[in-house]
Amino acid sequence: MDYSTLFFLLQERRSCRSFQPGQSLEPDEVMMIIKAGQQAPNPLNQQPWSFVVITSPEARKKLRQAGEQAKQAVLEQGGPGWVGGFSIDFMEEAPLVIAVVVDPRKGGLGEYFNQPLGSVQAGSACMQNMMLAATTLGFGTLWFTFFDPAAVKLILSIPDDHEIIGLLFVGKASGEIPSSRRRDPVIYADSFGVEYDQG
Ligand SMILES: Cc1cc2nc3c(=O)[nH]c(=O)nc-3n(C[C@H](O)[C@H](O)[C@H](O)COP(=O)(O)O)c2cc1C
Repeated sequence: MDYSTLFFLLQERRSCRSFQPGQSLEPDEVMMIIKAGQQAPNPLNQQPWSFVVITSPEARKKLRQAGEQAKQAVLEQGGPGWVGGFSIDFMEEAPLVIAVVVDPRKGGLGEYFNQPLGSVQAGSACMQNMMLAATTLGFGTLWFTFFDPAAVKLILSIPDDHEIIGLLFVGKASGEIPSSRRRDPVIYADSFGVEYDQG
């Protein structure tokens, strides 16, 4: 196995917020992405996830409206002003959106010892797998959560007792995806606060 591929991919995946219109995915590409998601670790292998594949322009338009409403809500509550200028045109440009949804009742045994987030943790791992798979297939992706979940549940008929991990926007990137840097890792040795020698 060539391990360098994974490390390359991890660098290559960057949040894409501009997509080429009309570059839709083949059905087998959609399935490859979803099946990659399903390989994620998850508590008790309960596989809490389900997926809503969204391709219709009408649904994407409604999702975009939910995004615009979320922007408005942030501004009305005195949130950061830059939100007003943050373009979410990509919500209609991307040919494919996959909503990753989890059933919180499938989160393993965590509820018995104050760890209620098992399904969300699994759904997040699933989402990351999907993004890396889409990157491998040559697509740009964005994990998007800038919406009121109640509004998106209504649009996609997602039951109230399920949680949305995010909307995954997928498509051919338009232009270079801007790189994003990471700060030096904060690592402790044996005890939180005790510096780890990073060599
Ligand atoms: C849970 C989660 C929610 C996110 N929600 C949004 C979002 O609503 N809008 C957006 O533009 N990016 C969103 N992102 C992407 C982050 O902004 C992005 O991952 C971060 O800035 C690092 O950039 P990179 O992905 O290019 O490395 C989200 C990422 C995660 C993990």
